Amino acid sequence: MTSITAKKRKVFIQNWGGGDYSDCLIDACPYLSMGTINDHLIEIDDIPEYPSSLYLAHEEICNYTCTFCTSRVTWKKEPLEVRQAGYEAITEKLRPVLPHIKRISAHGRGELFTAKGILKTLSEWKPLASAEECSASLETNGSLFDAEHWKQIENLGQYNLRVAITVTSFDDYTYKLLSGTTLSVQQVIDNLHFVKSLREKGIINHLEIASVVQERNFWQMPDFARRCIEEFGADTVRLRPYLVHGSGDFIRDWFTDMRSATHPYREEYRQIMQDPIFQNPKVLDWGGGRDSQTTDLLTFLMQHDRKKAVKFALKELAEWPFRKVKRAAKKLLGR
Ligand SMILES: C[S@@+](CC[C@H](N)C(=O)[O-])C[C@H]1O[C@@H](n2cnc3c(N)ncnc32)[C@H](O)[C@@H]1O
Ligand code: SF4
Repeated sequence: MTSITAKKRKVFIQNWGGGDYSDCLIDACPYLSMGTINDHLIEIDDIPEYPSSLYLAHEEICNYTCTFCTSRVTWKKEPLEVRQAGYEAITEKLRPVLPHIKRISAHGRGELFTAKGILKTLSEWKPLASAEECSASLETNGSLFDAEHWKQIENLGQYNLRVAITVTSFDDYTYKLLSGTTLSVQQVIDNLHFVKSLREKGIINHLEIASVVQERNFWQMPDFARRCIEEFGADTVRLRPYLVHGSGDFIRDWFTDMRSATHPYREEYRQIMQDPIFQNPKVLDWGGGRDSQTTDLLTFLMQHDRKKAVKFALKELAEWPFRKVKRAAKKLLGR
């Protein structure tokens, strides 16, 4: 959400990419990606004494170690006890602000149901505004979204409540691999049925099931999207393109992004995305049929890890004559 005053609009636009957003990372912004950015500019005439929106994303904690997570790589390195003291201080400081909040959201940078401070803040939220004026938006990996954990924040059910649940795959092997967990995907499937029951009762008002589309799971996406809609009653299915996250292994990062123009699976990915399910208005493809901005492997390595790039180029150079001979031999033998 972007908030600007009418007068400051010009300065805002100057500061944020000259109005054409050319400095923005399009794959990271659904509004740019889907061409709706102008709908999200808000006019505010006076700066209010208290903010009306609260975005909770400070607690760096999660029960998963997703191989592709952009958040984890930015987390502070201090021991949890030290960070915990900071989170408790934030929880205290937020208390007087809470009644004035009309829109609350959590948790874009860690896992909601493992973030004790954020859960506390959510559970204590008693807005001065009427329930009809208030909304909440939750994002979670769904692994702990069962009846017991929901109880902690069921007060949110009285407001306009949107829930987004990220699932890497419905295939157990792929799920465990990408989410870095030993938890069976069946647990998440059971939880999705529980969440569906909340949606059917109108406690949840919008259910989005999301995935990060990448080399390991892209071919599963047609079935994934169908299942989200038909079995779990998702209002929307968000297919978010993998953003290079800087795991430290840049060759692996590069290979994970099969939307790049020179990726060996790019054509296969394009074909998969021709499936009619992606025409369903419930499916939001943030990839938008575009190639990603990831360059070819050698340029990518030059940008991120020069040492590896040189090693890679030397290896390619050394192997090149052997490959040529192998190809010629195959041709001669008619294979
Ligand atoms: C950091 S997570 C926090 C919320 C929650 N733990 C979850 O996984 O849904 C927020 C969102 O970012 C997405 N995400 C993480 N790494 C990403 C990447 N490299 N590219 C694109 N999306 C990514 C997640 O899949 C999730 O939908
Ligand atoms: S569940 Fe969310 S926060 Fe946790 S590692 Fe995966 S993407 Fe990151």
